[in-house]
Amino acid sequence: MQLPKIIPLVLFAATHFWLGCKAAVLVDFQVANPPPVPRNAKQCTIQILQRDFAFSFGSAEVVEFQPPTDCGPVGSWAGITLNFTVTSNGTQFDRLGIFTFQNVEIWRTSTPEPTQGDGIIWTYIKDVTRYTPLFAKPGTFILQLDNLIQPGLDGIYSTVLHATFFASSPAHPPAKKADLLVPLSNLLNNTGNDVSVPPTFSINVTLPQNTVKVFAELYASGNGNEEFWYFNTANQFLPDLPNGFLGQGPFREVRLLVDGRVAGTAYPYATIFTGGIVPTAWRPITSYGALDLPTYFVDVTPFVPILTDGKAHNFSLDVTSAEADHTILQNWFLSGVLQVFTDPSSKPTTGKITTYSADPFSQTNTVGSVGANGDVNITVSASRKIHIESTIISGSGQLNHVVFTQDLQYKNVQNFLQNTLIQNVLQTSSGTVLSTHNGVPVVVDTFSYPLGINLTNFDASGDSFKATFDHSYNRDLLPLPTTLRSQIAERQTATGFFLISANGNTGNGTNSNVFSYADSAGNTYQRTVDAVLNNITFDKQTGSLAPLPAPHQFPVLPFQDASGKARLPNGRRVPN
Ligand SMILES: *[C@@H]1O[C@H](CO)[C@@H](O)[C@H](O)[C@H]1NC(C)=O
Ligand SMILES: *[C@@H]1O[C@H](CO)[C@@H](O)[C@H](O)[C@H]1NC(C)=O
Ligand SMILES: *[C@@H]1O[C@H](CO)[C@@H](O)[C@H](O)[C@H]1NC(C)=O
Ligand SMILES: *[C@@H]1O[C@H](CO)[C@@H](O)[C@H](O)[C@H]1NC(C)=O
Ligand SMILES: *[C@@H]1O[C@H](CO)[C@@H](O)[C@H](O)[C@H]1NC(C)=O
Ligand SMILES: *[C@@H]1O[C@H](CO)[C@@H](O)[C@H](O)[C@H]1NC(C)=O
Ligand SMILES: *[C@@H]1O[C@H](CO)[C@@H](O)[C@H](O)[C@H]1NC(C)=O
Ligand SMILES: *[C@@H]1O[C@H](CO)[C@@H](O)[C@H](O)[C@H]1NC(C)=O
Ligand SMILES: *[C@@H]1O[C@H](CO)[C@@H](O)[C@H](O)[C@H]1NC(C)=O
Repeated sequence: MQLPKIIPLVLFAATHFWLGCKAAVLVDFQVANPPPVPRNAKQCTIQILQRDFAFSFGSAEVVEFQPPTDCGPVGSWAGITLNFTVTSNGTQFDRLGIFTFQNVEIWRTSTPEPTQGDGIIWTYIKDVTRYTPLFAKPGTFILQLDNLIQPGLDGIYSTVLHATFFASSPAHPPAKKADLLVPLSNLLNNTGNDVSVPPTFSINVTLPQNTVKVFAELYASGNGNEEFWYFNTANQFLPDLPNGFLGQGPFREVRLLVDGRVAGTAYPYATIFTGGIVPTAWRPITSYGALDLPTYFVDVTPFVPILTDGKAHNFSLDVTSAEADHTILQNWFLSGVLQVFTDPSSKPTTGKITTYSADPFSQTNTVGSVGANGDVNITVSASRKIHIESTIISGSGQLNHVVFTQDLQYKNVQNFLQNTLIQNVLQTSSGTVLSTHNGVPVVVDTFSYPLGINLTNFDASGDSFKATFDHSYNRDLLPLPTTLRSQIAERQTATGFFLISANGNTGNGTNSNVFSYADSAGNTYQRTVDAVLNNITFDKQTGSLAPLPAPHQFPVLPFQDASGKARLPNGRRVPN
């Protein structure tokens, strides 16, 4: 199905008329597939929370959730989605949003930076079906969105969150679910359940003795001096660069350890937030992942033979670099959740880890050259292989031969040219994660995340710059044995120009996306969408999940609001 972009001439004319008096609210969005939930099933929608996040630092929204009882027996739903709709008007930084339910992080988002005047609105529909066991009981729901109001920052984020439950039926059976979800988090009841590392986060976890399968999902994003981690410079070349450049190199690996041993790791996707480098490149189409940060999956089942002794075990999360001491700068926000499956028998599970091959750290290599003219080129590469195998016997006598493997590759090339006015990075990160149970794949993650950013500063002051981006997210993912397997291919190319001035910032941007989705239930979705300035110049959605009516009425604004707040890599300060 195709949705042609129709711009009635009358609207175009009206927009010019509005310029002097009234523009229209700008509809921001991230390209993503609509969740593969049964649209023709009975649906029950409840409001979970509504909150204006003004000066909300340290003041999360905390509400009590009650499961709806009018869409079939509680917990029998075919799917669950969340609808987060937000308006904002003014000047504000992008902020991180952490949704925590029953002490489990279930969604990490960030806010598009608002515009002045009529401001912005966005809606993101998030599939949370894999957290069905949490939604099937009452509990505390928390949205942490730390916003600041101060001179120069007046944008309030006015939010409303609804949950929709899709009733199951013979045509749409109940979603498969784990028996127990165990958070790897700070377990706080008044704020988001992510932790800041370093230092390494550790938690004691005691699992039921009849546990037969355990799968971990990890949330991870860099913050502060780790926001643009892929631009950070290998320490050995810091003396060749101006003061203020950030060290610890551009390689990051998120690790999950069980009793001090690596259980699995992730080479993370680089989410760029909407204040990232050139805000105008990310308006109205956000950088891919900004509204729904990707997560990572590890099969912890090979450790079941040691986890079913009825005792506490030490689960740890950290982020390491390619530097000699493996440390990073401040800081990453991490959390995790274990999806646990138990045997019908109450007898303890037994078994043995038969192969354990996982180095503590990735293998890494750093090389570079410094030119007589001051040019600095650096290449950091990394790779890692993990192979863990176990034989597991459930209390009811089922034998499970588990083989978990990871094979990851990484390369980052940085060019600092023309006295570092030019900063280019080309990073490739790819790999395969595969877990089989008795030969059947239960976790699959084949990914490739190439990222190119060319940043040109017009002078050393940090007040005028342009950038081009070429960023892809290619992933064949079966995250859990209860979910669909999906293939996503997204390529986003964007450009932006930004000039900070006492008389008001100016800037512009373009953003082009080619996105495709397919899954093991036969659902498909494709979207090609381009923006130039604030104008959607092309938009075509096809596939079985494509929305029937036009999802947005895109306003046509023939100007670019450049009131956004920019942040640059490598400690370069934007003077505003
Ligand atoms: C999401 O919520 C907003 C605000 O309540 C509503 O206007 C919109 O129709 C909802 N979208 C969907 C797809 O449910
Ligand atoms: C946006 O904020 C400004 C300043 O507070 C206010 O004057 C204006 O009415 C607001 N616009 C909307 C649409 O709320
Ligand atoms: C959070 O609430 C749960 C359930 O009431 C309680 O068991 C837990 O101790 C609380 N956590 C903290 C850190 O207070
Ligand atoms: C885990 O339990 C051990 C032994 O009871 C204790 O020494 C340790 O401090 C605990 N660790 C955490 C992170 O709570
Ligand atoms: C848990 O494991 C982490 C990572 O190996 C380690 O730093 C920490 O000291 C361990 N904690 C305990 C209580 O053993
Ligand atoms: C650094 O890379 C740039 C771009 O490829 C190249 O023009 C330059 O010669 C290189 N300089 C050094 C010192 O390697
Ligand atoms: C960055 O510049 C290099 C060298 O000119 C070019 O090959 C590459 O395509 C550019 N990348 C982006 C994202 O513009
Ligand atoms: C953005 O502004 C710069 C500087 O004025 C200009 O060179 C560029 O062509 C503009 N881009 C767009 C898409 O208008
Ligand atoms: C927006 O893009 C459309 C399609 O390319 C074009 O017809 C229209 O003139 C553009 N509007 C503005 C205000 O640039």
